[in-house]
Amino acid sequence: MAKQEDLFKKVISHAKEYGYIFQSSEIYDGLSAVYDYAQNGVELKKNIRNYWWKAMVQLNENIVGIDAAIFMHPTTWKASGHVDAFSDPLIDNKDSKKRYRADVLIEDYCAKIEKKIDKEVSKAAKRFGDAFNKEEFITTNGRVLGYQKKIDTILKRLGKSLENENLADVKALIEELEIACPLSGSKNWTDVKQFNLMFGTKLGADAASAMDLYLRPETAQGIFVNFANVQKTGRMKIPFGIAQTGKAFRNEIVARQFIFRMREFEQMEMQFFVKPGTQTEWYKKWKEERLKWHLSLGLGADNYRFHDHEKLAHYADAAADIEFKFPFGFKELEGIHSRTDFDLKAHEEHSGKKLRFFDHETNTNYVPYVVETSVGLDRLFLAIFSNSLQTEDLEDGSTRVVLKLPSILAPIKVAVLPLLKKEGLPEIAHRIIDDLKFDFTTTYDEKDAIGRRYRRQDANGTPFCITVDHQTKEDNTVTIRYRDTMLQERIAISDIATIVSKEIAFKKWLR
Ligand code: GAP
Repeated sequence: MAKQEDLFKKVISHAKEYGYIFQSSEIYDGLSAVYDYAQNGVELKKNIRNYWWKAMVQLNENIVGIDAAIFMHPTTWKASGHVDAFSDPLIDNKDSKKRYRADVLIEDYCAKIEKKIDKEVSKAAKRFGDAFNKEEFITTNGRVLGYQKKIDTILKRLGKSLENENLADVKALIEELEIACPLSGSKNWTDVKQFNLMFGTKLGADAASAMDLYLRPETAQGIFVNFANVQKTGRMKIPFGIAQTGKAFRNEIVARQFIFRMREFEQMEMQFFVKPGTQTEWYKKWKEERLKWHLSLGLGADNYRFHDHEKLAHYADAAADIEFKFPFGFKELEGIHSRTDFDLKAHEEHSGKKLRFFDHETNTNYVPYVVETSVGLDRLFLAIFSNSLQTEDLEDGSTRVVLKLPSILAPIKVAVLPLLKKEGLPEIAHRIIDDLKFDFTTTYDEKDAIGRRYRRQDANGTPFCITVDHQTKEDNTVTIRYRDTMLQERIAISDIATIVSKEIAFKKWLR
């Protein structure tokens, strides 16, 4: 546990030290659960967004993108169910006066049991060595099965209680499990209450005529209300999708874990409109597709798993999360939801406008069903950043801190370093940058010994370093150093762009 916490602290301090993420309004002591992306962070975030957009919109003939406004007509949120049902169950500890999400307290309790399973697995793996079969072990070992059964029973009961709005039973569960306030250790709890997560604001100049608005809590509704416009103007045929990236806002009760849970965050969502009756098939397909997309980044297949929901949101007939192994354990990264025709039907009812698809083959019209994929950009940033931050022991006994970001996402692609600050080497380095900068993000660094400069670029996540030395003046060659392997090669200046382009080509990563 302490090791995990240390790792997470390292991630947060590295993100600040290397200009990725700053606390918002830091000079005023910050604002809780709100963060700013710094000079490197903004590039990494933009590259992740672009990687998603290309895979979603550019590579799928039947998916188009939009960029809807954050402000929407307030009836949108009545229709979508957010005014009545977008809330979290909260509970206060009477002694510490701290507020928690009741379901998260219970889920954290289960996560602790899960850690016990992990411990049993690593003990057995050590004992059995190469002969160890993890799958067989976790499906036959009595102790592991006992732990798993306990988790399943707790989560099933929690799911049922939340579904039936039985908040008294959620409290009873917390008491039966003897869950204590993580801060004070006290078990003196209030009743569980529902708390709406939407931020309200006003549109208009004077109080009397101002209209109550909400900051959107999800981008999806901007897609639903534009369904008919996009379908008609784009002459889209079912099945088709509409994608969007943008800010969303939630007044999270428990906002912690850095950029994992923020009050202002960004979503990348895609609503796929399908014929009623085909949604299960599309739901399965999008589950597979989205996992494949995550795996393309090379962060390791063991770091992902599906979690099928017991408790379904008010709009869904099936739902699953893709969970990622963050420094604090497996947690939701992306949601895939089969949302039925709930949203379009609700908007039809509230707006009085038809939101249907006319099928020329059968001469009938229908309200399409929707399968949604929804991933948090900031959460994805955290997954990629924390997984990439590594400390390596080198052969000479030293260690290096290296940020092994997928090269296609790295904020700075190429660092150009003159071996010396004189003898014409800086001028050549600048000429190389002037040529590369049209296609790649670059940086120039001439301070300190070359080894220290390499280390700085490693920690910054720069995948390629180009070193200009005396031989460059003679034969127009430079050294290219690869961040991950630290291998160095002599190449012609004229080959730099080709080599780098090949390594960061979308085709290479997304195929
Ligand atoms: N339109 C469906 C929807 O919004 P969700 O599961 O509430 O579903 C989707 O959110 C994704 O948005 C989550 O999987 C997560 O990655 C991200 N997300 C949700 N709340 C967040 C928060 N407070 N901070 C950062 N990311 C968040």
